[in-house]
Amino acid sequence: MEVWKDYQEKNKDRFLNEMLELLRIPSVSAKSEHKNDMLKCAEAVKNSLLSSGAQKAAIMATDGFPVVYGEYFLDKNKPTVLVYGHYDVQPAEPLDLWHSGPFEPVIKDGKVYARGSADDKGQFYMHVKALEMMVKTNTIETNIKFLIEGEEEVGSPNLAKFVHENKELLKADVILISDSSMLSMENPSLDVGLRGLSYIEIEVTGADHDLHSGTYGGAVANPITVLSKMIASCHDENNHITIPGFYDDVLESSPEERALMAKAPYDEEAYKKEVGVKNLMGEKGYTTNERTGIRPTLEINGIWGGYTGEGAKTVLPSKATAKISSRLVPNQSSQKITKLLLDYFKSIAPSSVTVKAFEHHGGEPYLTPIHSKGYEAASKAVQKTFGKIPVPVRGGGSIPICSILEKELGVKIIFMGFGLDSDNLHSPNEKYGIENFNKGIQTIPWFHKFFAEG
Ligand code: BES
Ligand code: MN
Ligand code: MN
Repeated sequence: MEVWKDYQEKNKDRFLNEMLELLRIPSVSAKSEHKNDMLKCAEAVKNSLLSSGAQKAAIMATDGFPVVYGEYFLDKNKPTVLVYGHYDVQPAEPLDLWHSGPFEPVIKDGKVYARGSADDKGQFYMHVKALEMMVKTNTIETNIKFLIEGEEEVGSPNLAKFVHENKELLKADVILISDSSMLSMENPSLDVGLRGLSYIEIEVTGADHDLHSGTYGGAVANPITVLSKMIASCHDENNHITIPGFYDDVLESSPEERALMAKAPYDEEAYKKEVGVKNLMGEKGYTTNERTGIRPTLEINGIWGGYTGEGAKTVLPSKATAKISSRLVPNQSSQKITKLLLDYFKSIAPSSVTVKAFEHHGGEPYLTPIHSKGYEAASKAVQKTFGKIPVPVRGGGSIPICSILEKELGVKIIFMGFGLDSDNLHSPNEKYGIENFNKGIQTIPWFHKFFAEG
């Protein structure tokens, strides 16, 4: 619509600068030293909602970092859209790999470089500015609620309780989330699913203190060797996971769905170049797109033990530890797989070591149908602004609250992410294209319009 175009054109520099202000607040939920920054960020989000036309906005306490709630009420006969996002970000480390400060946003080649630019401040802020655009041009056609949380990056440990206790407040006809990516600006896509997560930690102990590797090596178990073997046993030569029962509940995609997925444009050379590898590896029998979408995986996220300082130290370490996580697909259950993993590592440990295994956070996988009012509204909105019908694809990442939101509120989630996989999420030099930001702000009002009409 012309009024939106005009409004956005007149205000786009301010929109961008406001987003940069949010990026300057180091709202790292994982680190206690950022507690005040978290509260400062929640305050800034609340104020931005109010100044963008929300009639109500409030910081609401949870057992952890607070939630920012906001709303614009239009008419009880109009549908309600609940927008979910998160104002917390991942830690910025390793700092020396950033080309500029993670919390001092820099614009280079049309992209904003900063922690949280794509995940998720730059993305949820598009919804705040879309609200402003609709309110100020008198074109809003839905009721809109905002639920912007502060603990997504640490597994949303307190949000389920909050949602359960505030069902009436959050009641909506659809949930809209921009916290994922699209294939490319030329080939827009909509995520129709996200993977779940099981995350565990394994600690292997041999001797009860570090030993001289000459005097004891060869006679006493080396926990690093043992842990490495345990980890190596998890995949076979086809990169298939060997843990008994792991694939039991996996919903196999139909040949039709796989054929549709195969239509998504994919350039293997560009993909390899982007990540900087000579060759790819993954589960035999599946394409790259399938390996990161419809198949579950098991990854080692961290491993340490023994001497890692300067020079060489001949030591037979007492302990080795690994952080291990599994991405899950429908209909795997996070709880069940977590237990399976914990039991597996304990069961395969040789008697020469002791193994402690415990769980971190997890989350369930999520799927959304393409034949729904919400998906159709998103598809039409993207078509309107990108000129192409978006392809449905599965996202590889996880947003743990999704399955809980659906269960508690009884409505489906629509993922309308505008980031790119190459935005360096969770990594140094995270970035978000200004064009992506602007396109998102343009597309969102169309979603509301089509959803209201649908
Ligand atoms: N925004 C991501 C999830 C995502 C990324 C979805 C890319 C689709 C594509 C989210 O902030 C995230 O990073 N989630 C964590 C979950 C966790 C910390 C429990 C993840 O996926 O590792
Ligand atoms: Mn995110
Ligand atoms: Mn994230």
